[in-house]
Amino acid sequence: MEELIQQYTEHAKNGFYSVHLSEISSKGNQAFTTSDILNDKGVLLARKGINIDRDVRQQLIKHKLLKPLDIQIGLEHQADTQTLITEFRRLLEKYPDLHRVNEALKYGPEFEKLLQLERLHPLLTQKLTVLEAQMHSEFEKSIFSAWLSSMIAREMGLSMDERRDILVAALMHDIGLLHLDPDIVCSNRKLSAQEWSTVRAHVVVGKIIADSVPGIYPEVSRAVIEHHEDCFGAGYPFALREEQLGNPGKIINMTDSIHSIRVKSFRNSQRTLGDIKPYLQLNPTTNGYEVYRATMSIIKKSGLQPVRLRADDCPKDYAKNLGRQIDILREAKQALDDIHENLLELKERIDQHDAKQLSAIAAVTCRIRSTLDESGLLSSEIAAWLCKERELSRVDEQVLGEFNEIELLIKELTWQIRNTVRMFHSYNDSDATRDAMMLEHIEASIESIQEIFERLG
Ligand SMILES: [Fe+2]
Repeated sequence: MEELIQQYTEHAKNGFYSVHLSEISSKGNQAFTTSDILNDKGVLLARKGINIDRDVRQQLIKHKLLKPLDIQIGLEHQADTQTLITEFRRLLEKYPDLHRVNEALKYGPEFEKLLQLERLHPLLTQKLTVLEAQMHSEFEKSIFSAWLSSMIAREMGLSMDERRDILVAALMHDIGLLHLDPDIVCSNRKLSAQEWSTVRAHVVVGKIIADSVPGIYPEVSRAVIEHHEDCFGAGYPFALREEQLGNPGKIINMTDSIHSIRVKSFRNSQRTLGDIKPYLQLNPTTNGYEVYRATMSIIKKSGLQPVRLRADDCPKDYAKNLGRQIDILREAKQALDDIHENLLELKERIDQHDAKQLSAIAAVTCRIRSTLDESGLLSSEIAAWLCKERELSRVDEQVLGEFNEIELLIKELTWQIRNTVRMFHSYNDSDATRDAMMLEHIEASIESIQEIFERLG
């Protein structure tokens, strides 16, 4: 931990934060210095009271700063509780299913009260202001996460203190992104292993910033650094296991996954949070069983139902397509079994090299194999049933609902397997090991599974 903190201390002091400050100024919300800014040698870089424009930012970005930039600047307009409440209400308007959950669980007034009671430190509202202007989707995600994670915490029966820590941690969990190269963290292109490691650093930078906020509770910064860990030891930065993780990080990880599915995967469909159940059922222990149970309970209480396909969609083609995708998943399972065997053979070498990334891949592979088995998708019963439905001329509403559920299960499993392939690539591209035998096995594994996915298109 100390090593990582040291590595990213300069990023937390400024990194690329001054880039965002100069851009926010050019958009009409002036960022200015509130004290003389010196470099680590005591040389003056910017006088107190000047605006942070492109020239100032050029000067700041070239140097190591004596003190963190965020305690030496001010913003003309800074977000406050009301800004967060307004954004929350806007979010509910944008996504009617969230509104439905909020109403059914009678959570709105309580959430807004929690926000009002928690007097956020100006350092945090400064970061949230910059996040809102510069990475609006991340800002929206923070509000979503604050709302849903504090609701999950209530459902789990956690104390008010814990719910407060979760709320604050959820609001700030991704602010570390503001200090990393925007060309990388805001990019839609395929990232290299090195670039991925930059993105992953946001949890460390976020923790350093959280630790610097006067009066912040240690559970908050712990949640920030743990929010990409999972209970199988497949997360980052430390690949911790369930018993080593606190509730807040586990809950925030769950809300991030749900946000990604709801906002990204369901973007071009009519699907809502009512369609999230298959994802939850496939991942009951990823963030701990208690978190799963509370989340499932919220979805059930909301009364939201999965969206059914329209009746004019062709059920025969639907059944045929599902059958085809299941066949590909079956092949992927075989490839995963081979990879598992490979990794078992390499276990001693992995331990010897302390190759955490490979241990994480082994943990993920193991989990997907058992999830595939437990889902029942590869069973002969499902195959026979899909074949039967393929021959029927009409398929009723209930069957369409079941098709939908199978489709969502396939999507989630496919995503998980693709993610494993990404992890392999990232490992292969990095200089983590030069052990020839390990590399050979890993390249073979990537090739076999990659080929399967190419056929999936
Ligand atoms: Fe994150």
